[in-house]
Amino acid sequence: MNLFLPDEAATIEFAHCVLRALPQDVAGWTLLLDGELGAGKSTFARALISAAGHEGPVPSPTYTLVEPYRLPRSTIYHIDLYRISDEEELRYLGWNELDDGLRLVEWPDRAPGLSARADLVLTLAYEGSGRRAELKALSERGGALIETIEPA
Ligand SMILES: Nc1ncnc2c1ncn2[C@@H]1O[C@H](COP(=O)(O)OP(=O)(O)OP(=O)(O)O)[C@@H](O)[C@H]1O
Ligand SMILES: [Mg+2]
Repeated sequence: MNLFLPDEAATIEFAHCVLRALPQDVAGWTLLLDGELGAGKSTFARALISAAGHEGPVPSPTYTLVEPYRLPRSTIYHIDLYRISDEEELRYLGWNELDDGLRLVEWPDRAPGLSARADLVLTLAYEGSGRRAELKALSERGGALIETIEPA
């Protein structure tokens, strides 16, 4: 699915749409957030985490690599791979143990093998003063989810 997001509010609204389409139990789901510097990956992640019930700031995981959010309905891991340089380092951040929640991953291209283990990839790209969003399925259940998304 492909849509134009004219401003930040549209990115936030789209994150809400994706959250609504996700199942109650998001354990084991992985959503990759792709796009160049400043494309809106963190804006999307922040909106989704806040809408899922987190109150307060959503700091960038650039240095911590993973920021966990234990929310009433679900656990969300906000992950930033900007500083990792190869797939092997995923083990150090305990990737496999983060399977009891939703993994939201910025800079997934740092670990190309991840696409094979993810459900969805959202690619954000600059377009005029807004952004172009493309949401693609990487798994069967990811494809089924996209079918149910109703953009506002
Ligand atoms: N649809 C949109 N149209 C225009 N501006 C937007 C849109 N969505 C987000 N922005 C703005 O883009 C800027 C960068 O956003 P953000 O920090 O989310 O990007 P990022 O992809 O996480 O960047 P980084 O690569 O540095 O982590 C913010 O100022 C945000 O308000
Ligand atoms: Mg970011």
